[in-house]
Amino acid sequence: MKGLILSGGKGTRLRPLTYTGAKQLVPVANKPVLFYAIEDLVEAGITDIGIVVGDTRDQIQAAVGDGSRFGARVTYIVQEAPLGIAHGVKIARDFLGEERFVLFLGDNFIRDGIVSLVESFRGNAADCQILLIKVPNPQQYGVAQLAPDGSVVRLVEKPKEFVSDLALVGIYMFDSHIFEAIARIRPSWRGELEITEAIQTLIDLGYKVSPQILSGWWIDTGKMEDMLEANRLVLEIIEPDNRGSVDPASHVNGKVVIEKDAQIVNSTVRGPAIIGERTRIVNSYVGPFTSIYHDCLLQDSEVEHSIVLEHCKIVDVHHRIEDSLIGRNVEITRSPVKPKAYKMMLGDHSKVGII
Ligand code: DAU
Repeated sequence: MKGLILSGGKGTRLRPLTYTGAKQLVPVANKPVLFYAIEDLVEAGITDIGIVVGDTRDQIQAAVGDGSRFGARVTYIVQEAPLGIAHGVKIARDFLGEERFVLFLGDNFIRDGIVSLVESFRGNAADCQILLIKVPNPQQYGVAQLAPDGSVVRLVEKPKEFVSDLALVGIYMFDSHIFEAIARIRPSWRGELEITEAIQTLIDLGYKVSPQILSGWWIDTGKMEDMLEANRLVLEIIEPDNRGSVDPASHVNGKVVIEKDAQIVNSTVRGPAIIGERTRIVNSYVGPFTSIYHDCLLQDSEVEHSIVLEHCKIVDVHHRIEDSLIGRNVEITRSPVKPKAYKMMLGDHSKVGII
C-alpha cells in the first residue's frame, strides 16, 4: 500500500499564522502536525508516501526532506491551486498507480494511529474504507448516513440541514476505482472536487464502501482552539525528558520535556509542558499544557495552556498569557518609557485579549 498526504490548501481558519506558514507545520507538542501523519503511515508499514503540496511547498519540503528520517520515501506532487481533495488524489495518479492507498489529510490528527485501520482494510474486500466519528457540529464536516445494518447510505459534504452526526475523519483508504469516481464528479459550490462526492459516486457505481467508527479522539487542527486541544492531549501522554539544563533555583514539576540546549533559570515549569531546543526560560512561570518551540526567550513572564512558535521573545509580561497561540518571531514586551501604554504591531486578523 502507498500513502498520500494532502498538505496544500489555504489554511484560512488559522490566519494570521498561515499567511506566512503552512498550517500543517504548526507544531503540536513541538512537532509539526504533518509529522504525526507521516509517522502514523510508517508505523502502519506504509513507507512509500506522496505529499501533495501547494503554495507552501518550499517550507514543507524543507521540513520533511526526502522522508528518510522517518524511515519513508517521500515524493512531492505539486497542486497548482487548491482545487479540492479529490483533485489532489487525481493529480497523484501516476504516483499511486494501481496500488491501494491511504489518503491522509495533513491537518488531521488522531491519537491511536492507523495500524488497526490499515490491517482491517488489507484483510477486507472493500474498495474504500472511511472513518467516522460522532461530532456535535456535523455541519462543519463531511458526514455519512448509515443504514441500520451499518452500511453507508449517503455522504454529504458540510450539510446545511441535519443528515447525520457521523463526521468523515480525514483518513480514507481506497483502491484504484476511486479514479473512475473522481472522473465523474464536477466542482462543488465551493469550486472544489470533493472527496465526499467521489465516495458517494463509488457507492452509486456499486463499489463497496466500508465504514469504521473511531473510538479514540480525532482533531481537525483547522482552528486555534483545535490546536490547543491537540496540544493538551499530546502533552498529557508525553514522556518526561531533560536534555537541557535546569539551574538549582528552578522548579520543574510533573511531566516536562526539556529539549536539547534549552535552559531553565530561576523559573518554575509545571507540566505537562515542553520547552524547545535553545529556548531560555528566565525568572518565569510556565504552566500546564504549554508548548514553547525552539529558540524562544521567556523572561520575567508567565505563560500557561498555550502554544508559542519558534523565535518568540516574551519579556516582562507579568499578567499571565493563557489559551494563546503565538506565531513565529513574535515579540511581546513591556514598554520601558512613559506613558504606560500598549504598543503593538499586529498582523492582519490578529486577536489579542487585554485587561
Ligand atoms: O478534516 C475532515 C474533513 O476534511 C472532512 O470531514 C471533509 O469531508 C473534507 O472535505 C475535509 O474538509 P475541510 O473543509 O476541513 O478540508 P480542508 O480544505 O481544510 O483541507 C484538508 C486538507 O487537505 C488540508 O491539509 C489542506 C489539504 N488540501 C485541501 C484542498 C481543498 C490540499 O492539499 N489541496 C486542496 O485542494
